[in-house]
Amino acid sequence: MIILGIETSCDETAAAVVRDGHELLSNVVASSMDLHTVYGGVVPEIAARSHIESIIPVIDEAVAVVDWDSIDGIAVTYGAGLGGSLLVGVMTARTLAITKDKPLYAVNHVHGHVAANFITSTPLIGYSLPSSQPEFPLLALIVSGGHTQLVLFQSHFNYEILGRKRDDAIGEAFDKVAKIVGLPYPGGPSIAKAAAFGDDKKYKLPKSKLDNPYEFSFSGLKTAVLRLAQDEIGEDFTFPSFRVAERLSETQKNDIAASFQRIAIETVVDKTVLAFKEFAPRSVVIAGGVAASQELRRQLAEKLPIAPSYTDIKLCTDNGAMIAALGCFMALEGQPLADPFSLDIVPNLSM
Ligand code: KG4
Ligand code: ZN
Repeated sequence: MIILGIETSCDETAAAVVRDGHELLSNVVASSMDLHTVYGGVVPEIAARSHIESIIPVIDEAVAVVDWDSIDGIAVTYGAGLGGSLLVGVMTARTLAITKDKPLYAVNHVHGHVAANFITSTPLIGYSLPSSQPEFPLLALIVSGGHTQLVLFQSHFNYEILGRKRDDAIGEAFDKVAKIVGLPYPGGPSIAKAAAFGDDKKYKLPKSKLDNPYEFSFSGLKTAVLRLAQDEIGEDFTFPSFRVAERLSETQKNDIAASFQRIAIETVVDKTVLAFKEFAPRSVVIAGGVAASQELRRQLAEKLPIAPSYTDIKLCTDNGAMIAALGCFMALEGQPLADPFSLDIVPNLSM
């Protein structure tokens, strides 16, 4: 079963070919991230325009490792994501499904992040993949720029959401805090870099307390960082957030980054450990862009009684391989096909 996966939900134009859900044959990603950095976040119109320019060359390059005849189906992200961006991938996939006469699978982006962890082999160089597939029941901590949730899977398509975000996603909090302290977008990697030089116990920041222990809230933490930064420069809450960074010293920035990172990661780790104790899964996987965080990997490995699974950083952030992998499982497990003449995008799709 060989599936072409197409992903354009945010600022990465991505396509990949995966065999049987576990073998990565090609993985091509063109990112428009550099075009957004000057604005401190993704600009939807720029992302959509950039997808239009990149999508055909990206797919051509991904498919070059096989030939169209050996591709058994096309999987595409139809949500969640930015409307204009999703449209480019979905319209391209629909057109290819019709012209190449291939079955079409509509994939949920967030679910796709989990499937990336089932890829265990590749002839491509430069990938550090897990040596074996995770086992069910599987507890997934999904942490990305748009999503934060804990999901208990009994199988690929039988799962229960234990808790989701109530406001900002954890990746979004990294991005916003980075902006406050004047670090470049995306915030995750730049906060991690600054944090390496900072004291993570320097500042006391709050952890949210919610009725459902598996739900997440990061907007309070983000505001607490802003108040702390305003306080550090001797101003009150009326001082504009976009002018805070210029008054912070390098040491203050590093200490804020380190203290924020520790608390944000501790929050998701605590909830994952709690869920592990309650549901006793056989595997724990971390998925999504923030799964690239070394601090998250370190804290989880330290606090869980079993080793958490995660994949290569290139497959944690948005990519076509995760969409192709989930497409393979949909095909192998007889999930319904999408209609190439009518598949629509669902920007606010949830699992
Ligand atoms: O999954 P993803 O590529 O896109 C979405 O589906 O949202 O996740 C992007 C998010 C961004 O918020 C980025 O700051 C975060 O992943 N991220 C990280 C790291 N690398 C990327 N967060 C923490 N540590 C990292 N090393
Ligand atoms: Zn994502």
